[in-house]
Amino acid sequence: MTHHQRLLIIDFGSQVTQLIARRLRELNVYCEIHPYQNVTDAFLADFAPKAVIFSGGPDSVTRAGSPRPPESVYAMGVPILGICYGQQVMMQQLGGQVDGGKISGGGGTAEFGRAFVTPAESKISLLDGWFADGKEQVWMSHGDHVSQIAPGFEVFGTSPNAPFAITADKAKNFYAVQFHPEVHHTPNGKKIYENFVRLAGFSGDWTMGAYKDDAIARIREQVGDKKVICGLSGGVDSSVAAVLIHEAIGDQLTCVFVDHGLLRLNEADEVVSMFRDNYNIPLIHADESDLFLGELDGISDPETKRKIIGKLFIDVFQKHANEIEGADFLAQGTLYPDVIESVSFSGGPSVTIKSHHNVGGLPEKMGLKLVEPLRELFKDEVRALGRELGLPETFIGRHPFPGPGLAIRCPGEITRDKLDILRKADAVYIDQIRKHGLYDDIWQAFVAILPVRTVGVMGDGRTYDYACALRAVTSVDGMTADYYPFTHDFLGETATRIINEVQGINRVTYDITSKPPGTIEWE
Ligand code: XMP
Repeated sequence: MTHHQRLLIIDFGSQVTQLIARRLRELNVYCEIHPYQNVTDAFLADFAPKAVIFSGGPDSVTRAGSPRPPESVYAMGVPILGICYGQQVMMQQLGGQVDGGKISGGGGTAEFGRAFVTPAESKISLLDGWFADGKEQVWMSHGDHVSQIAPGFEVFGTSPNAPFAITADKAKNFYAVQFHPEVHHTPNGKKIYENFVRLAGFSGDWTMGAYKDDAIARIREQVGDKKVICGLSGGVDSSVAAVLIHEAIGDQLTCVFVDHGLLRLNEADEVVSMFRDNYNIPLIHADESDLFLGELDGISDPETKRKIIGKLFIDVFQKHANEIEGADFLAQGTLYPDVIESVSFSGGPSVTIKSHHNVGGLPEKMGLKLVEPLRELFKDEVRALGRELGLPETFIGRHPFPGPGLAIRCPGEITRDKLDILRKADAVYIDQIRKHGLYDDIWQAFVAILPVRTVGVMGDGRTYDYACALRAVTSVDGMTADYYPFTHDFLGETATRIINEVQGINRVTYDITSKPPGTIEWE
């Protein structure tokens, strides 16, 4: 490990633990989330954190067998911040008292949602910059509450239902708060993290420049003089991984770009010219559109389509990868959210590793080892790294594009004719969004061509062409989404342009379904 200053977040199963990590990363502090079950004495000694944060969690410390950090954490001599459940566990382990609330059957006062904390007489540096207006809005979400603080602790803030909203043992640098400073609804919460890492002595050494240099050194060490294969999709993650690895090992990297014939207008050319011409990265452009479209011919069931594409993708990738003699490694753009082991509500740690649909199972099958230089990064950090590497903004800010491509935006049978129409309509739509300066406000936008033809009239003639649906959503992670509230003027102008410019479409609709109940893609 090359990061000298590390903060450990012990996860007790809060829904918002990842937000703690994000707040810290924004402060240039390197941190890792680990489920409490994995945090043993030996782990702590090996990890050697400069500070520790206890997350919230759904359990009740009043329940026998509920999650605990090892007692040795309190003897490490490093600052600790406990949040919500983390506060309660700290109080209980250090000799205070926690009472059950409504949820755990204790009948005490629960507190959910917005609350206001007011300061106590004495001050602490954890709260520098707080209480300028005499109180602070915070987000509470607890059933149980601390009824007696542990010896050595003092109260520094109270809310109507949480007399011990902010507590600290100043001598030991232990801090415990009842609310969640990491969430948006605690508007000044970032200050608490800022103060905490400052008083813990972090210098903010987690910068993208430093990360890039570290990552390059680590790739060189891991790969040595061996060869690496990288599957390129044209998306941000694989692009950044490829350019980073290329900076580390030059021509020992070969990229394979599988063109399944389901890409957007000019997309294949853009990817090829960017990597081959601009970056001089050895690139195999596998134009396999005939194979994919041939196998998909006549298929209209969404799951069958996905299965066909997934299988062919692996076959084709493997075929081309086999042409690269002596490759020992496969590069993947795996991100940190894909590898975090989170504490599930059923108790045990649940490993939420996304199976990469593109190359799933391939490393074992081909006897390849993995190079995953982005596995410590969040998506926005990948973008920052991309900028550090000089990738053009048009690549970095791109909306996500699904592996099965336009196949899942073409409900029903896929034909070359429909794909061509869809590509043109999509290009007009995205052009409109860019022209109106909306691209960066939208998580994802695309056109779906519908399997219905409708009657229209253009000029003096009757038309009988396809209908299409425009989709645009806002989201933070693709798990939930809301439709984007375009103005009627924008929608009207876009529909007119599509019908005028794209032969084959005579009707345009706007999809206003959120997720759930819908999904972002149509299939
Ligand atoms: P849904 O349609 O499930 O999509 O709401 C959520 C996000 O995932 C993308 N997506 C995929 N990405 N392979 C991918 O790489 C896939 O098979 C796939 N299916 C959906 C989708 O574009 C959206 O961003």
